[in-house]
Amino acid sequence: MNASEFPYSRGRRLRSCENIRRMVSEHTLSVNDFIAPLFVMEGKGNREEIASMPGYYRFTADLLLKEAEELINLGIPSVLLFAMVPDDKKDNEGKEALNPKGLMQSTVRLLKNEFPELVVMTDVAFDPYSSYGHDGIVENGQIVNDESADLLAKMSVSHAEAGADFVAPSDMMDGRILLIREALEENGFVDRGIMSYSAKYASSYYGPFRDALDSAPGFGDKKTYQMDPANVTEAVKEAVTDELEGADIVMVKPGLPYLDVVRAVKEAVSIPVSVYNVSGEYAMIKAASKMGWLNEEEAMMEALIAFKRAGADLIATYFAKDAARLL
Ligand code: PBG
Repeated sequence: MNASEFPYSRGRRLRSCENIRRMVSEHTLSVNDFIAPLFVMEGKGNREEIASMPGYYRFTADLLLKEAEELINLGIPSVLLFAMVPDDKKDNEGKEALNPKGLMQSTVRLLKNEFPELVVMTDVAFDPYSSYGHDGIVENGQIVNDESADLLAKMSVSHAEAGADFVAPSDMMDGRILLIREALEENGFVDRGIMSYSAKYASSYYGPFRDALDSAPGFGDKKTYQMDPANVTEAVKEAVTDELEGADIVMVKPGLPYLDVVRAVKEAVSIPVSVYNVSGEYAMIKAASKMGWLNEEEAMMEALIAFKRAGADLIATYFAKDAARLL
């Protein structure tokens, strides 16, 4: 008989009351972990609920400022900005993407003027601006890598000029982190960060987001640049490559179906790891709780702590505001 065996050892002792459970809790969630995605659209005085993301809105820039203020008051340190581009401004070269007065750039300027302390991150990818709905430039039905990576570096500089603290390339082109880092350095933005979507999978869970931005691919799919859900070694390679190319934070996306990838990446890099709790994950919890099949708050908090357990340092999540209220 060994005292570390039953009946001397009883795991339930450490679960017997709330205070003991608090004492032995291994992971904690904090508002400091949250990055709140925000969708901005053209116009004034308006917000639109995204049909497949109940309770989540696209805002015109003036109302977006109010939303940002609420997030700040809840202690959320950072937002990740996405711009909805009208069809007549979409092309295959990036005119609007590089427009210094474009919606993304002007919204960043507004946010940073109003809330200098807020960490403003911008999504850097071509799909919301692309007449083909792809993350890069299209030539002969192919998404061409190097031309696209050049464009992404120019977009990053344009966002930095507007005041973005971090650029967040979500496109999965090869070599873009190095090009972005070099472009930021050459243009004097040595203090701006790169949060790289390093391991971004070709996922069905982005569906609601593509509704939010009207950015679904016009032909084909994203499998020649986004990753195969079957792979994890490749995710580690992508993250390590991005770290070496100059990323400050690496990201795994989506979140819940890829917790093993978060863990593997966390163990392979020496920089913070973020995870994107994507639109489809949000929609699933919302839909099931609307049906009365799940308790929304409990399911949300359980998902969020799972990211911490898996090793995530930061969580980009549409639940940021709801969770911050509970914390
Ligand atoms: C665009 C982009 C996508 C998301 C973030 N940036 C969609 C895609 O790659 O098709 C998805 C976010 C979400 O689903 O919440 N490059």
